[in-house]
Amino acid sequence: MSLNGNGQHPTIDVTLHVWRQAPGHEGKMVTYVEEARGISPDMSFLEMLDIVNERLIAKGEEPIAFEHDCREGICGSCGMMINGQAHGPQKGTATCQLHMRKFSDGDEIFVEPWRARAFPVLRDLIVDRQAFDRIMEAGGYITAPTGAAPDGNLIPIPKEAADAAMDAAACIGCGACVAACPNSAAQLFTAAKLQHLNLLPQGQAERYRRTQAMVDTMEQYFGSCTMHGECQEACPKEISVDFIAYMNRDYVKAQFKNRKLAGQTAP
Ligand code: SF4
Ligand code: FES
Repeated sequence: MSLNGNGQHPTIDVTLHVWRQAPGHEGKMVTYVEEARGISPDMSFLEMLDIVNERLIAKGEEPIAFEHDCREGICGSCGMMINGQAHGPQKGTATCQLHMRKFSDGDEIFVEPWRARAFPVLRDLIVDRQAFDRIMEAGGYITAPTGAAPDGNLIPIPKEAADAAMDAAACIGCGACVAACPNSAAQLFTAAKLQHLNLLPQGQAERYRRTQAMVDTMEQYFGSCTMHGECQEACPKEISVDFIAYMNRDYVKAQFKNRKLAGQTAP
């Protein structure tokens, strides 16, 4: 433990082991000791990386590349493995909302990108999550007429359905569920994106077409679910695996022949 620049607040010294990988090259863990000294426990994990990067730049070295945008747990871009856990040791928390007070003076911290075949590493801690975009393109939307927004209360929605749809809509698309799953399955992400539409009246017209298209696309890129439940544990928004059960139920229903007559089979 040491004092920070103004000599008042205690700070911690940590040793960072960070995955460094340039595009087109093999990656390796690189250890940073001096660069990660004098860290305030009140800093977020990303602010700690900012400090390390400032020190690397001052030495003329390449800063650590990591993704971030909102830094408020909303955008889902900041995912990384911290000591083997997706988003680090604090449950229900995205990396950007994790604080250094969760660590102790002298800790060794291992930081790696998501590990999944569908998420290739672009540079250092940044992975390509376009496979999620392919799932969303397959049906993660509703078709609605343009024009003035309809009155919000025009369609009565049971509170339970609205609450469940809201819980599913909390998914920020970060990919921690895939990274934490031993099969690199994307069931929790896909189920959340499906059910926030499928549970609402506005989502009914394309419900079965959407379910079949998104699940089939998911299976092109990701592994299969064997119900380990690691996804729910790693999810910063605590999305429930119950949504996977809803998705599986809708997928079975989507196979019924009479869905074709209702115009809801996948193209
Ligand atoms: S389900 Fe959770 S862990 Fe998976 S992408 Fe959505 S927010 Fe991230
Ligand atoms: S930076 Fe947006 S969720 Fe972390």
